[in-house]
Amino acid sequence: MSLSVDQHEAAGGAAESPGVVLRADALVKRFRVGPAIRSNYVSAVDGVSLDLRRGESLGIVGESGCGKTTLARMLVGLERPDGGTLRFRQRDVTAGRRADRRLLRKGVQMIFQDPYTSLDPRMTVGKLVTEPLAANRTMGARARRGRAGELLELVGLSVDMLDRFPHQFSGGQRQRIGVARALALDPDVLVCDEPVSALDVSVQAQVINLLRDLQRRLGVAIVFIAHDLSVVRHLTDRVAVMYLGRIAEIGDSDSIFEGPAHPYTRALLSASPSVDPARRGQLAQRVKLIGEPPSPIDPPVGCRFHPRCELAQDRCRTETPLLRVPADDTGTRRSACHFAEAVLTDAR
Ligand SMILES: Nc1ncnc2c1ncn2[C@@H]1O[C@H](COP(=O)(O)OP(=O)(O)O)[C@@H](O)[C@H]1O
Ligand code: SF4
Ligand SMILES: [Mg+2]
Repeated sequence: MSLSVDQHEAAGGAAESPGVVLRADALVKRFRVGPAIRSNYVSAVDGVSLDLRRGESLGIVGESGCGKTTLARMLVGLERPDGGTLRFRQRDVTAGRRADRRLLRKGVQMIFQDPYTSLDPRMTVGKLVTEPLAANRTMGARARRGRAGELLELVGLSVDMLDRFPHQFSGGQRQRIGVARALALDPDVLVCDEPVSALDVSVQAQVINLLRDLQRRLGVAIVFIAHDLSVVRHLTDRVAVMYLGRIAEIGDSDSIFEGPAHPYTRALLSASPSVDPARRGQLAQRVKLIGEPPSPIDPPVGCRFHPRCELAQDRCRTETPLLRVPADDTGTRRSACHFAEAVLTDAR
């Protein structure tokens, strides 16, 4: 685990910046896989540190299997970290105190990928939306129904839908119901795990715009996990690029999309159909993303990206790159590449 600690230290130590609502320090999650006698561990998340400030939006991108969902589940308290700490409103919510965990479960809500399986089909929309309120015993039944109506209107649905069941709604409407439910307890943070990837392309933009609108109107912070990089750029202030359980690059979205400082980010951009084709061509001349990511059961030593990186040198095969601000970079972006400066110069 010493490598994770390195990433953590490089991410800026323990000082609390003002306005930070959620802070992850060197979060680790392992899963046991395979038969009991010969089981292995998958390090799904291996030392991720990040901050989320009030009202901001942070994107998380990376290929499938790099740990995005596992990280999201730790951020909302659905999964307990095996290492590291999570602080919500300055309180350590990983230490196991029930009151603190409750605070997290109330203040940080998840919007799931698939609105077809995440809503109980036997409950009416009114019940679904206010179930979190009932569980917290904060309101009587009548007041809850009133609140349910308000929540539906907040997400662009109407009060007369309260007594319908999920199957009577389209995918886009169901995701709106999921958003309304997540907002019931007035959270500080919404964690959205690929919230539109199960939806029809024609309604994806509507749901994205709804989230953007809610972020502005309610001042709720959003963690937005997505495949489509142009959506992430459109929606987020900052972005974290993950590779095999770690952060490869993190910082201001515009800077990263304009000039990545990590070869993996560059490769993702060049492979993304939503990035401007001319720009993509420019990037693709320099970098190709070959093959699949290696298994997180036995990740490469040194830089985890080295087997797929065109710029890899001997040093990359032995020495783990720390997340650091590239020399001469003006912003706050950090990259975990030994040659971040060269990548950055090349991208400009
Ligand atoms: N409950 C689980 N048991 C075993 N392995 C898991 C479990 N959840 C996730 N993993 C593994 O952890 C890694 C990260 O998965 P995940 O967080 O779902 O990534 P992503 O959301 O980026 O696709 C993958 O290798 C996945 O197979
Ligand atoms: S540290 Fe080396 S292998 Fe890793 S991304 Fe940078 S150049 Fe590539
Ligand atoms: Mg996922």
